[in-house]
Amino acid sequence: MSPETLVNLSIAPFTASNPLSQAEFDEYVMTTYGRFPLTLERGSGCRVWDDQGREYLDFVAGIATCTLGHAHPAMVAAVTQQIQTLHHVSNLYYIPQQGELAKWLVEHSCADRAFFCNSGAEANEGAIKLARKYAHTVLNIENPIILTAHASFHGRTLATVTATGQAKYQKDFSPLVPGFHYVPYNDIAGLEATIADFDRHQRQVAAILLEGLQGEGGVRPGDRAYFQRIREICDETGILLIMDEVQVGMGRTGHFWGYENLGIEPDIFTAAKGLGGGIPIGAMLCKSFCNVFQPGDHASTFGGNPFACAVALAVCNTLEQENLLQNVQYRGGQLRLGLQKIAKNSLRSFKKSGVGG
Ligand SMILES: Cc1ncc(COP(=O)(O)O)c(C=O)c1O
Repeated sequence: MSPETLVNLSIAPFTASNPLSQAEFDEYVMTTYGRFPLTLERGSGCRVWDDQGREYLDFVAGIATCTLGHAHPAMVAAVTQQIQTLHHVSNLYYIPQQGELAKWLVEHSCADRAFFCNSGAEANEGAIKLARKYAHTVLNIENPIILTAHASFHGRTLATVTATGQAKYQKDFSPLVPGFHYVPYNDIAGLEATIADFDRHQRQVAAILLEGLQGEGGVRPGDRAYFQRIREICDETGILLIMDEVQVGMGRTGHFWGYENLGIEPDIFTAAKGLGGGIPIGAMLCKSFCNVFQPGDHASTFGGNPFACAVALAVCNTLEQENLLQNVQYRGGQLRLGLQKIAKNSLRSFKKSGVGG
């Protein structure tokens, strides 16, 4: 079939005109998610509609992912243009869209180099591998330990679920990956004691992997003094500071990166979720001094392909052009005030009802 014939075929887009029932869906799809009995069919901006035509304000945004909302014209244009041009080639060749995206990320962060993959877990896997290679080849550590925090979340692959300091995600998946140890979040004394313990006889601690704000762990913001002291420790010892920006990055806190709220720069950081605005892409970025990967050390078939990179670049450019960081700050302030008002009113009516004594 010639390309002309293909273009002229009227290909029906997927619509849920004859959808499987939710019970039928469960017959075919593994039950790894506790799903709400809800089927969303369409989205526009920050609103979505279900299959009954009901409208919702989308606070979930694909879990911190739809940076530009739904069906943003910039994304539609990037998707359409790139799929019609060249959607996938191997990393055996130069990919201009990948280079452009890396340039944008480097110019808008503290990093010098980027590696692309497909998800947050995969980005964190890359960071863990980079830190281990740095430990072996630069720090001369034979059995490197990476410290992570209790209540953290770093993904569901075997290494990242081990890095995740929550037993409920690890249950039934042992043996876990060796080389991880958990410390309490925002507790500098605990961290210093743990490093001293591990490094008493020979150096073992290679990296500290943290979120700048714990998302899945209950929305717990990082303490500035804690992170600034960690930065000092890392500078003094050569331990690498890795920040997981998968959930807080890409403008979610009113800055491009969550670490900007803490007044520090990580040595390595990871991004995914909002980076592609809903198109799967992840990135692992690092400073030059720890850029120790050589050809063959790490790879991903889909990572950084023209399609994902062109769309992510459109997301990044739009974030800037539409001044979305300012909007995040404004809306964040508005939400905070509203929530404080609700809390105050509920406290008042609680006291009035006399239940509180
Ligand atoms: C902080 C953080 N890191 C990593 C991940 C894993 O990302 P993904 O689901 O894209 O693998 C998540 C997902 O929720 C996350 O919140």
